[in-house]
Amino acid sequence: MSVDASSHEALAQRLEELLEVESFPPPEEFARDALLNDPAVYERAAADPLAWWEEQARALDWFSEWETTLNDSRPPFYTWFEGGTINASYNCLDRHVAAGLGERVAFHWRGEEGEERDITYAQLHADVQRFANALRDQGIEAGDVVGIYLPMIPEVVVAMLACARIGAPHNVVFGGFSPESVKERMEVSEAKALITADGARRKGRTAAIKQSVDEVGMPVATTIVVRHTGIDCPMGEGDVFYDEIMDAAAADCEAVALDAEHPLFILYSSGSTAKPKGILHSTGGYLTGAAYTHRIVFDLKPETDVYFCSADVGWITGHTYIVYGPLMNGATSVMYEGAPDYPDKDIWWELCERYGVTLFYTAPTAIRACMKWGEQYPGRHDLSKLRLLGTVGEPINPKAWVWYYHVIGGERCPVVDTWWQTETGSIMIAPLPGITHCKPGSATQPLPGVVAAVVDEAGDEVARGKQGLLTLRQPWPSMLRTLYRDDERYVATYFEKFGPRTYFVGDASREDADDYFWVIGRVDDVLNVSGHRMSTAEIESAVVSHPKVAECATIGAADEDTGQAVVCFVTLEGELEGTDELVAELREHVARKIGKLARPKRIVWADDLPKTRSGKIMRRLLRDIAEGRELGDVTTLRDPAVMGQLEQRIAARRDEADA
Ligand code: WT7
Repeated sequence: MSVDASSHEALAQRLEELLEVESFPPPEEFARDALLNDPAVYERAAADPLAWWEEQARALDWFSEWETTLNDSRPPFYTWFEGGTINASYNCLDRHVAAGLGERVAFHWRGEEGEERDITYAQLHADVQRFANALRDQGIEAGDVVGIYLPMIPEVVVAMLACARIGAPHNVVFGGFSPESVKERMEVSEAKALITADGARRKGRTAAIKQSVDEVGMPVATTIVVRHTGIDCPMGEGDVFYDEIMDAAAADCEAVALDAEHPLFILYSSGSTAKPKGILHSTGGYLTGAAYTHRIVFDLKPETDVYFCSADVGWITGHTYIVYGPLMNGATSVMYEGAPDYPDKDIWWELCERYGVTLFYTAPTAIRACMKWGEQYPGRHDLSKLRLLGTVGEPINPKAWVWYYHVIGGERCPVVDTWWQTETGSIMIAPLPGITHCKPGSATQPLPGVVAAVVDEAGDEVARGKQGLLTLRQPWPSMLRTLYRDDERYVATYFEKFGPRTYFVGDASREDADDYFWVIGRVDDVLNVSGHRMSTAEIESAVVSHPKVAECATIGAADEDTGQAVVCFVTLEGELEGTDELVAELREHVARKIGKLARPKRIVWADDLPKTRSGKIMRRLLRDIAEGRELGDVTTLRDPAVMGQLEQRIAARRDEADA
């Protein structure tokens, strides 16, 4: 089916109309059947937050009840449900199987080349037990960190839950990061083993993983290799195949009763220095937040819903809303191995139709890509089963919101814009779809139990409508516990600015007259490219490690596709000239050091960088230049002439592009 000009015109007009709508109440039918449709939940949670969180924790299966709901005697080191014992894999699997739900599909998995695998809760339960035993056979014990570097295949879920079953914190690294990044993360977390694959498939091509991992050398005793693509795979000492150790392992493995505060996982995320932060999550509190928010924000009815989150498990969204939340709630999910435009740009919608997806969760950047590709792709498929849409990762521009609402949701589905972070573990600010009137571009209000405030530099709440710093004012169960082996950095990053009882988010935000939060973006040197968090310092240090580079300043420039784009201003060593070949070389260099996702979109050669008299690079001015804005105050520059040259370079490039 092709979209003719007149229907495209009609769509554009409808979107214009929707952009005029200030707020979207829950569709009547949706509100009637919603799990939560009484706004009194907010007051009930606020009246007694601890009782509220206890109630949420009771939705899980505990081996033994906790003694202290919240221990806040040592802020900002909070603990939740101390004294209680629990196991994540038990809550995701055993209890559903025991309740007779073993035959329910946990994942409809779809491979890139169209392969389909339906994995039931019973199968997952069996695989996880066996792999937990296999890990033990390899000498992995409770407390040992296990790295996971896998594509979007069912084995990644098995690996995570098997680690959780025996109390070995997992450390998943997104497949888009380079082996060098993996190595660094394995080193700093002192991982004992790494679970990876022979290769990965991407848009019809196969790339070797095991071999590229070997090239940098991993500091782990054991590497476990999943045979996924059949690509050539060198095996050395300490290397074992997943299927072989599975075959050799015993079938039954009881889930270990772990302290509520036992670390469930570490996930490295970018901060404002070149060193990634090892965000550490607990078991009991994290699981409580994951199950609770997945249920209420997506209005999950596990018997009838089919849920599809398009994220990668390598990010927190995948941890919480592909693995732990959905499985704890007994949901049936779709898991897709490939890219959103392979085999064609309608693959997501094909999957929605094929499996009858009712709840769909993706990122604004993906929605913008879909808009660009055109409505004919979703138009090829029956999306009438969809009843709720979600977004996460960055502010959603109202245009993308109304497109999503109209084209994908058929104006029947609430759109939940969910604000949260790797650190928060689970969604903090989002609509309750049966209650909240949504405003396109706003994540709306903190969930029941969450307290947020927009403050000024002194920590005082700013007036409604004024921009300020977003903070979270009360501890919540799924908050990070610390930065792995770096308590000092944990305190300095999140609790130095406003004291140990106010969590500093790092985002700018404002609150409107209806108490709705509008998150604007980061206030630190952290970039958000396509919803992926990246550190300017990390990219700069990668660029500078190239022998021809003297200095580099990296900024995120506003980009209509990816939200922000990486732009590097680079000065070269000595008399070296910037050439197109060198641009390509530097981009590849960054891809090798960090990963393809960090590859600069633009490199601008500079004879000098704008610095203050004390030598600090003024990134603000570079952002002005890259985004084509009038320059801000330049009087504090050591050498204001630097800016003239950079402006000329940028303008010349624009002319080239226009020509
Ligand atoms: C940062 C956290 C949480 C999973 C994905 C990213 C930005 C996230 C939203 C949203 C506006 C958002 C914030 C936040 N962000 N969701 N709905 N509206 N901004 O996790 O890598 O830890 O990044 O992403 O800036 O601080 P992350």
